[in-house]
Amino acid sequence: MMIVFLGPPGAGKGTQAAKLSAKYGLPKVSTGDMLRQAVAAGSQLGQQVKAIMDAGDLVDDQTMGEVVKERLAQPDAAGGVVMDGYPRTRVQAEFFDQLLTDSGRGGVGLVLLLTVAEDLLVDRLSKRRVCLQCGANYHLEFKAPVSDDVCDCCAGGLIQRDDDKEDVVRERLRVYRELTEPLVAYYRAWGHLREIDGTDSIEDVFTRVDAAVARAAAA
Ligand code: AP5
Ligand code: MG
Ligand code: ZN
Repeated sequence: MMIVFLGPPGAGKGTQAAKLSAKYGLPKVSTGDMLRQAVAAGSQLGQQVKAIMDAGDLVDDQTMGEVVKERLAQPDAAGGVVMDGYPRTRVQAEFFDQLLTDSGRGGVGLVLLLTVAEDLLVDRLSKRRVCLQCGANYHLEFKAPVSDDVCDCCAGGLIQRDDDKEDVVRERLRVYRELTEPLVAYYRAWGHLREIDGTDSIEDVFTRVDAAVARAAAA
């Protein structure tokens, strides 16, 4: 099944997508992680997107379409994926629908919208740490790594994302409201959107996420 996580920065998309991916063996496709890896590697894509990401703005739809198309063409994506961070504009959503139709995958199976109040989002992001090597996410309070700067999963180095500074977080929230939030109506009209309160603990939110996936799979 094609599962899409939607929600503002800090809502828990990456955290919940990783848990779903581990439980069902579906690859997690995180466009933010892919772009950060490109920046870290200094590739042409990375050089093109670094300043845009640091400012909290969106990379253009055409570039993102190419990144996602290439990723979904990999053999491990044939049986479904968990999308984290894509699509996030109307143009991307329409491109994605077309891509899934053209590749015989029939379209998005489920969209999970995570909702969290804005002040909580800012707090979560200011205490987040991420592994540059494997993409694992931590929170210094709610999901603390054993050591503050080493990844529990792969022993890679943990960093604070450049775009987790408060002024950039505010810009990312503004961009979300303007360009990504309209997708809620787009997917709701189409009928497979489930709204999930993302405020409670990571485990409690996952229980709801998992139940929504089970219902969609049984439908
Ligand atoms: P991206 O990496 O996708 O960032 P984002 O959408 O802003 O989302 P975040 O990763 O900040 O939040 P999240 O919802 O994944 O939360 P997380 O699980 O980490 O994109 C970054 C940039 O890349 C964009 O700004 C743009 O420039 C570019 N980009 C990417 N995709 C693009 C696209 N499609 N088009 C154009 N540009 C694109 O959780 C946050 C923190 O809270 C963590 O510390 C976590 O441990 C903690 N936490 C999570 N859940 C809970 C909980 N229930 N209780 C307590 N703590 C929790
Ligand atoms: Mg994320
Ligand atoms: Zn790691």
